[in-house]
Amino acid sequence: MSFNIGGQNSIILKEGTSRSQGREAQNANIQAAMIIAETIRSSLGPKGMDKMLVDGFGDVTISNDGATILDEMEVQHPAAKMMVEVAKTQDDEVGDGTTTAVVLAGEMLSKALALMNKDVHPTQIIDGYASAGEKALEFLQKIALKVTPTDKTMLKKVASVALASKLLAEQKEYIADIAVSAVLQVAEKSGTSYRADVDDIKVEKKPGGSLTDTVLIQGVLLDKEVVHPGMPKRVENSKIVLLNCPIEVEKTEFDAKLNIENPNQMKGFLDEEEKMLKDMVNKIASVGANVVVCEKGIDDVAQHFMAKKDILAVRRVKQSDMEKLAKATGGRIVTNVEDLKSSDLGHAKLTEERKVSDDKMTFVEGCKNPKAVSILVRGGTERVTDEAERAIHDALCVVRDVVVDPRVVAGGGAAETEVAKQLRTYSQKLTGKEQLAVQAYAEALEAIPLTLAENAGMDPINALMELRSKHQAKQRWAGIDPIKGKVNDLSKLNVFEPLVVKMQAIKSAGEAAGMILRIDDVIAASKSAGAGGPKRPEDSAKEEGEGE
Ligand SMILES: Nc1ncnc2c1ncn2[C@@H]1O[C@H](COP(=O)(O)OP(=O)(O)OP(=O)(O)O)[C@@H](O)[C@H]1O
Ligand SMILES: [Mg+2]
Repeated sequence: MSFNIGGQNSIILKEGTSRSQGREAQNANIQAAMIIAETIRSSLGPKGMDKMLVDGFGDVTISNDGATILDEMEVQHPAAKMMVEVAKTQDDEVGDGTTTAVVLAGEMLSKALALMNKDVHPTQIIDGYASAGEKALEFLQKIALKVTPTDKTMLKKVASVALASKLLAEQKEYIADIAVSAVLQVAEKSGTSYRADVDDIKVEKKPGGSLTDTVLIQGVLLDKEVVHPGMPKRVENSKIVLLNCPIEVEKTEFDAKLNIENPNQMKGFLDEEEKMLKDMVNKIASVGANVVVCEKGIDDVAQHFMAKKDILAVRRVKQSDMEKLAKATGGRIVTNVEDLKSSDLGHAKLTEERKVSDDKMTFVEGCKNPKAVSILVRGGTERVTDEAERAIHDALCVVRDVVVDPRVVAGGGAAETEVAKQLRTYSQKLTGKEQLAVQAYAEALEAIPLTLAENAGMDPINALMELRSKHQAKQRWAGIDPIKGKVNDLSKLNVFEPLVVKMQAIKSAGEAAGMILRIDDVIAASKSAGAGGPKRPEDSAKEEGEGE
């Protein structure tokens, strides 16, 4: 690409590089980001629709989850990709509100575009948005309600709201109960507050049965069967050995050659191997174990000896499951059979292999005060269990959010409308373009109630006007009730969401909007990396499509 400097054409960038600058670049970026927001806004709220996504292999995903939809869309445009990241950050940080965050970011950008058309410079918008964002977080924290972190009724309300917009809406009461019990089970008190990690909750799905067959297991569920047919399938009062070494005779790392001259030598050799395996099994039995869970392999001969001693064993268990088992049963993962002590054993009331649909799974249940639990998700088809798993993830996350930071706000756009109102009052103190930017930000927040109303088939403008006047009349939790299709007091309807979900949505939307607005120059290298240059698979796929 050539640049004209002082009347001379200088070539600076590689041939084929494309460049767009100034308003052209800004417009293109903003449009791309807005398209993303536009795509998923119809899935917001309990009356939102789902999306069906078909990938390159023809695999179908049906989802309402913002992060999942965007992830499956395989977006190409760089600015649009930033919106996908907004959803991802929201998902990683708080687990819910991904659609909200993207809709907010899109609306902030569309309002910014309108301001730019009125000759407000992007930097003024960025500054205005930044101060509005800070104020919004402050107002949000002021209006939030403090709750008790272990208040099951409140936690259940929050979980139900997260599930309300998903496929499981019908069964939300049932699933919400499971989510609350699971999180409270793994939560730990530290000082005056609580800690909880949703990674300690194993979600295993098996198509078959119905969604209400989904169960919480006080322990860990392994998608593995018992290794040997001669072993017991059910061991009560289990004393469990957790091993991360194989129960096999170690092979030498280098090639060794053994010259065997007669059958006796051969037998001696095999006998020795067998003895080593037998010793390992004897050691396991000597500490009183009746269940072996091994991360690596278990030799056939060792399996046979274990079966004789009535030991139940499973092998090739995932490392993450081993860690969960340690937390659930109070056992310690041992790296060498020789070091095994009875104090390393984990305890559970029952270890049992059961048939779930066509597969056999091993349940380690009834652990004493388990700090890791499992949820077995059931549902008609694989697509149902997939989407149910994502919904349960959202429910677990919101319950965790409230247990860790026990503050909530009412949903249905009530919190957003209230913050928008307070931002408008605050903007009165400002002047000029900053004031315009703060007001634009406030309007962007109202995209949430507006979209909820739209998706519920209400007249969005009328609904927003009614909402604004109710908030002026100090009805703080007036919001959209999509079920009844009218404006209502959402706190009376028990629609509560974690404060952190709303705060994170505002933070990540604001950051993404600011970042996109700041770009006034897009320099893109040509798609093919040149002769011999590295190619990414997505690029070559695109080139083929374009027939270049
Ligand atoms: N019963 C309800 N009445 C009113 N509003 C509700 C109700 N249930 C949920 N909502 C609102 O719906 C919105 C959440 O919708 P949804 O779950 O589709 O999107 P999200 O949480 O932003 O993103 P995602 O769940 O895809 O990560 C929130 O604003 C919430 O307050
Ligand atoms: Mg949600």
